[in-house]
Amino acid sequence: MLPLNFSTDPYPTVAKYQQLVLQLQGQIEAEIWLPGERLPSLREQASRSGLSLMTVMHAYQVLESQGWIVARPQSGYYVASRPEILTQSLAQQKVQLAETMDINAFIFEVLQACRDASIIPFGSAFPDPELFPQRQLMRALNNVSHHLQPRDAINNLPPGNEALRKIIAQRYAQQGITVSPDEIVITNGAMEALNLSLQAVTEPGDWVVIENPAFYGALQAIERLKLKAIAIATDPQHGMDFDELRQALERWPVRACWLMTNQQNPVGFTLSKEKKQQLVQLLAVHQVTLIEDDVYNELYFGAEKPLPARAFDHHGNVLHCSSFSKNLVAGFRVGWVAAGKQALRIQHLQLMSTLSTSAPMQLALANYLATRRYDQHLRQLRQVLEQRKNLARQSLKRHLPAQARINDSRGGYFLWIELPKQVNTTELYYRALAQHISIAPGGMFSSGGQYANYFRFNAAWPWGEAQEAAVATLGGLIAAML
Ligand SMILES: Cc1ncc(COP(=O)(O)O)c(C=O)c1O
Repeated sequence: MLPLNFSTDPYPTVAKYQQLVLQLQGQIEAEIWLPGERLPSLREQASRSGLSLMTVMHAYQVLESQGWIVARPQSGYYVASRPEILTQSLAQQKVQLAETMDINAFIFEVLQACRDASIIPFGSAFPDPELFPQRQLMRALNNVSHHLQPRDAINNLPPGNEALRKIIAQRYAQQGITVSPDEIVITNGAMEALNLSLQAVTEPGDWVVIENPAFYGALQAIERLKLKAIAIATDPQHGMDFDELRQALERWPVRACWLMTNQQNPVGFTLSKEKKQQLVQLLAVHQVTLIEDDVYNELYFGAEKPLPARAFDHHGNVLHCSSFSKNLVAGFRVGWVAAGKQALRIQHLQLMSTLSTSAPMQLALANYLATRRYDQHLRQLRQVLEQRKNLARQSLKRHLPAQARINDSRGGYFLWIELPKQVNTTELYYRALAQHISIAPGGMFSSGGQYANYFRFNAAWPWGEAQEAAVATLGGLIAAML
């Protein structure tokens, strides 16, 4: 029996249960435990590893839900005798179940590291703030501050500032989508829009479908609301496998599906129009609400802004969430949800949690948007991001080992990079951090220890010597791990 030594663990902030999951998966793959063989009991494992019984139980449950082991009543846990599951690489498994989520601490640590100005922030989720029209936004804030009234806080309570909701509704109309200002709720960024939407349509213990890999905000929300996740594999070009989605909807009582349709984070794909339509139809048949995260929708590189899935919804079944954070200003924290029939419930939930979005920020945004400079700014932003992404891609190609696969996507500012299997990107993250470089390791985007050899790279930064040198260092670190 192999002792599990957690004091020398190389990934100290990966949740403890997840470390055990990874270790046991590795041991099963190495045939230290053969199919049909009994694993140490929960108590034995707990006393060997120094972990709590609950943590060990959680790890065993995750392994069981992934098909690695099976529980036999009164007898214990045995290595599954289905070799096809065991020989499949983790990233190839199409459906992952997670009855509980425990990923918050690691995500928090990675995000905190990006705050240090001495670190080259390839792991950051933010675009370069220098790309935003800071002076014009400050002018707008200044304009409204001269006219602020004591009643403004009350006038801008949920659903939020009327002029701003109208401008957002007009932007939907430009794409041929009818969204009434009355169903728009202004929120503290898209994050609040997404969280309130999920809360509005679920109860603790409900099943929610997410993508695998997914934006970690979805994993965190599921953890916070005590929901259960069905994570369905995505193809780097075409997104979620809808056959798997259909089967999952037939098999489990799913309440909501949270996914991204345009410039998915972290992979970068945009679903085709046909797939968006298919998705809305499929979910409507099963009466499952779609929570559509569309924060990167303005960052497309082609000629035409892609439609959201919401464009194909005729039943108020799609809650479309977005914000100004990724394309205009991150610090104002203003987003929204086009909430259909959930608009009132979401307002109630907001009143019970954050009360409202800051009135001066809503007013300043409405003031800026009324100048009609937004579209011109967006055109420039897209152009610069496309150039920077190309430069970053070329640099990565120069410096990463030849086996690295860089996923190409037309839009946004993320590159999703696959490394050879033996490179664990959580370990790479720590090694790179020691050299003042951050990356977003694949483990942040999946709850079951998958995508351990992937990372997300933020290509929104201006390209210069420091960036080139940092990518060269990253390449060296990866080569040393091969
Ligand atoms: C995919 C995705 N959704 C939502 C958000 C949150 O957006 P906001 O900053 O508007 O709350 C982010 C931010 O990183 C994101 O990447």
